[in-house]
Amino acid sequence: MSDTSTSSATPSTGAATYKIAVIGAGGKMGMRVSDNLVKTAHTVWYVENSPAGRQRTIDAGRELTDAATAVADADIVVLAVPDLALGPVTAELVPQLRSGAIVLTLDPAAAYAGLLTTRDDVIQAVAHPCHPSIFLQRETPEQWADTFGGIAAPQDAIAAIESDDQAKKAIVEATVRAIYAPVIDVHWVTIKQLAQLEPTLVETVACMIGALLNEALHETVNTMGVPEAAARSILYGHTQVALANGLRGDNPFSDACLIAMDYGRESIIKEDWKKIFQDDELDKNLARMLHLDHIER
Ligand SMILES: NC(=O)c1ccc[n+]([C@@H]2O[C@H](COP(=O)([O-])OP(=O)(O)OC[C@H]3O[C@@H](n4cnc5c(N)ncnc54)[C@H](O)[C@@H]3O)[C@@H](O)[C@H]2O)c1
Repeated sequence: MSDTSTSSATPSTGAATYKIAVIGAGGKMGMRVSDNLVKTAHTVWYVENSPAGRQRTIDAGRELTDAATAVADADIVVLAVPDLALGPVTAELVPQLRSGAIVLTLDPAAAYAGLLTTRDDVIQAVAHPCHPSIFLQRETPEQWADTFGGIAAPQDAIAAIESDDQAKKAIVEATVRAIYAPVIDVHWVTIKQLAQLEPTLVETVACMIGALLNEALHETVNTMGVPEAAARSILYGHTQVALANGLRGDNPFSDACLIAMDYGRESIIKEDWKKIFQDDELDKNLARMLHLDHIER
C-alpha cells in the first residue's frame, strides 16, 4: 500500500501533526470535535452542507471548505455525518481520497453493517467516546458539568482500525485524543467488538435502563402521587448505590433489597434477554437503527 502521509512534528511539543478533514462540522458531534480540533496544531478543514450547520460553523469562527478540497490531501477524514448518510457520503468522498488516507467514523453501526464504500488503499477506522465514568474522581465544577465528555471531564475512548500499520494507528489515536479530549486511555478493539459495545452493551442495555428509571420516576410521581422532590432525591441517591454496588461491589445489597430485586427481575426482565448478545440479534438491532430490512453478510 502506498503512503504519501505528510505528517510533521511541532517544535514545541514534538507531537506529530496531521491534516484532518471534518465532514458534518456543523452537527452535534461535528461541533464538539471541531471545538477541540481548533485547540490543536493539526491542519483542519471544516465541511458542512446544511445551511444551519454552515451557520453554526461560521458563528464558531471557523472557515468552511468544500468537500473535494478538504479530503484531497487529508491524512484522516472524520465523518461526523448521520449514520444514515454514511453510505452516500463515503460513496462520494472515498474515491477522492489520496492513497493511504484514513476514513474515521464516529459510530460502528454503518461500518459493521458493510454500508461504507471502501478502497484497498484507504483505511477504515471507527472511534467512539466512552463518556466520563460515573466513578471518575471529578475535581472542578467544569468537570462535574461535563457529563458528555470532550470539554473538561477526562474520558476513555474505544477505537478500531482495519489495518496493522502502526503509523496509521498512531494517526487515529492522535485524532481520537484530540477530538474527544481530555482522553485518558484509548482501548483498541475490532469493529465488530465496538458494535457489541455500542449499541448492545451501552445503548440497548445501559441507556434503556436510564430511560426506564425516568419512566419509573414519572409513574411514582404521577400514578402513585409521591411528591416529586422526594422521589427524585431517593432515586438519584439509590441509583448511585445501585451502580456502585452492582458494578463494583462497593457494599452488599441488604437481604430485603435482594428480595425486591428478584421481584423486579421476575416482573420486568424477559427470561431470554441475553439473546441480545448473539450475532443475529446484533444484526437485527443494527438493521433497525440503519432503517434496513436486514444486514447483508
Ligand atoms: N450525537 C451523539 O451524541 C453522538 C455520540 C457519539 C457518536 N455519534 C455519531 O456521530 C455521527 C454524527 O452524529 P450527530 O449526532 O452529530 O449528527 P447530526 O445530525 O447532529 O450532524 C450531522 C451533520 O452532518 C451534516 N451533513 C450531512 N451530510 C453531509 C454531507 N454530505 N456533507 C457535509 N455535511 C453533511 C448535517 O448537515 C449535520 O450538520 C454519527 O455517526 C453518530 O452515530 C453521535
